[in-house]
Amino acid sequence: MTDQPTPERRKKLYIETVGCQMNLLDSELVVAKMRNEGYELTDDLNQADAIFYNTCSVRQHAEDKIYSALGRIKRIKERKPEVTIGVLGCMAQKDQDTIFRRAPHVDIVVGPGQLAKVPELVEKARAESVHQIAVSRARTDGSIDSIAASFENYDADREPSMRPSPFQAFIRVMMGCDKFCTYCIVPSVRGPEQSRPPGVILAEARLLADQGVKEITLLGQTVNSYQHRQPDGRSSRLSDLLDQIHDIAGIERIKFITNFPNDMTDDLLQAVHDLPKVSRYIHVPAQSGCDQVLKRMKRMYTTAFYEEMLARTRATIPDVAVSSDFIVGFCGENEASFQRTVDLVERSRFKNSFIFKYSPREGTKADSLYPDDVPESVKKRRNKELLAAQTAICLEDHQKMIGRTVEVLVEGQSRSTARREGWHGISQMVGRTNCDRIVVFEANERLIGQFVQVRVEDASAVTLFGRVEIAERIATPA
Ligand code: 5AD
Ligand code: SF4
Repeated sequence: MTDQPTPERRKKLYIETVGCQMNLLDSELVVAKMRNEGYELTDDLNQADAIFYNTCSVRQHAEDKIYSALGRIKRIKERKPEVTIGVLGCMAQKDQDTIFRRAPHVDIVVGPGQLAKVPELVEKARAESVHQIAVSRARTDGSIDSIAASFENYDADREPSMRPSPFQAFIRVMMGCDKFCTYCIVPSVRGPEQSRPPGVILAEARLLADQGVKEITLLGQTVNSYQHRQPDGRSSRLSDLLDQIHDIAGIERIKFITNFPNDMTDDLLQAVHDLPKVSRYIHVPAQSGCDQVLKRMKRMYTTAFYEEMLARTRATIPDVAVSSDFIVGFCGENEASFQRTVDLVERSRFKNSFIFKYSPREGTKADSLYPDDVPESVKKRRNKELLAAQTAICLEDHQKMIGRTVEVLVEGQSRSTARREGWHGISQMVGRTNCDRIVVFEANERLIGQFVQVRVEDASAVTLFGRVEIAERIATPA
C-alpha cells in the first residue's frame, strides 16, 4: 500500500473587523483576495498564519481597542515570527508609521484605499522581513484627481462566507466623503467622494443575485449624494440605481445607508415610495438639535431644515421608519443646547438613534478650532438621558405594533441577548421588517432567507416578538 500524499496545509487567516458596514465590506473583499492566495479563515488566533485587524478611527475608543488587541498578540509573534500581522483600514491611513512605532511586531499597514495590495504586501513582508506600508495620499497632497486615484476601487472580488448571511450583501456605491463635518475623520481617511459607475454597480448586483443574495444594502458615507455623470453628460442618481436594481430577478429587498439631510431629494423619496422592494427605512443623522452646535459641526443645515426634510419624507412615504445619529458633548454644547437635542428626539419619533459621546480626532477642524470643553461625566450623563428619551419612544411605538402582522425576512438564529424571558423555543429566529424593525419568533431554520408573516405578540424597545402566520410570501413580481 502506498502512502497517501499528505495534503499541503492551507494557510490560515484570522481577521477581526471593527467599525461600520463599509469596513465589513472591505473585510469581505480582503478575504476574497487572500483566498485566491490559498488562505482559509480561522477563528483561532493561535492557528493563524496571518492576523489582520480591519480598523476604525471614528472615535478614540475604537482605536484603543485595536492597540490593546495588538498588545495581546505580541506573544504570538514572539513565539511564531513567521506570522504576518496586518493593520488595515481607517486607523492605518490615519496613524501610518506610528503603528509600527507603537507596535513594532506589526508587519503591514494598509489604508482603506490600498486594500487590493494586501496579498502582495504580505508576501513582501515575509520575504524581506521589513515593515510594509501602503496608504493613500493626504487630502492636501496634490490635485483632487491624483488624490482620488490613490483610493483604489477593488470591489470586483466577493467572498460569500464573510457576509452578514448568505443572502444579504453590501454594495459600495460611493467611496469617500466631501462634507467635512468638523468633528469627523472620515474625509481624511476615506478620501474624496467618488461615485462608482452605475454599470459596475448593476453588474455587481446581478452577480450577487446569481449567488443567491436576496437583500442588497447600498453603501456610501453620504449615499444619497450619489451622482455619476455619464460620458454623454447624463447623470445617474441614487433613485436611478434603486430603480435599476429593483428590476433584477432574485433581489427582493434593497436598503441604502447613510443619508445626508441636505441631499434628501424628492426623486429619492418618490423612488422609495414607488418601489416595493426598497425598504421603507431611512437612516438620516441629525447629529444635534441645536443650531449653534450644528453650525460648529459645519453640518450645513438648521434644525428647522432637518424637520422640514423629515416632514417631507413622511408625507411622501407615510409608513417610513427614520433613524438618526447624535453626538452629545460636542465642543460648546451647554445644557440648553443639549435640551434642544432631547426636544428634537421627542418630536421626531425616530425608529432608533445611535448616540455617541464626542471624541476629538486629531487632524479634524473641530480638534484644532474648539476646546473639548464638555467633561466626560457630562457627556456620559447626556448620552444616558438622550438614550432614555429615545428608548421611551421606541417602546411606545413598538407597543402600538402588538396585534399587527408584519412581513419579515428571516435572517438567522437569534442571539440569546434578544431573548424574551420565559421563552424556551428551540429555534428562535430573528429577522427584520420592511421598516428595519427587529423581530424574534420561533421558526424552522430552513426558513432562513425567506419572507414570513409574523403576528406581533409582545414588544421591547429594541425587539418585536411574534408568531409566524404564513410560511412563505409569494415572490414579488420582478
Ligand atoms: N466623535 C463622536 N462621534 C462621531 N461620529 C463621527 N465622528 C465622531 C466623533 N469625532 C459619529 C456621527 C456619525 C457616526 C457614524 O459616528 O454621529 O454619524
Ligand atoms: Fe463624516 Fe460628515 Fe462625511 Fe458623515 S457626512 S462621513 S459625519 S464628514
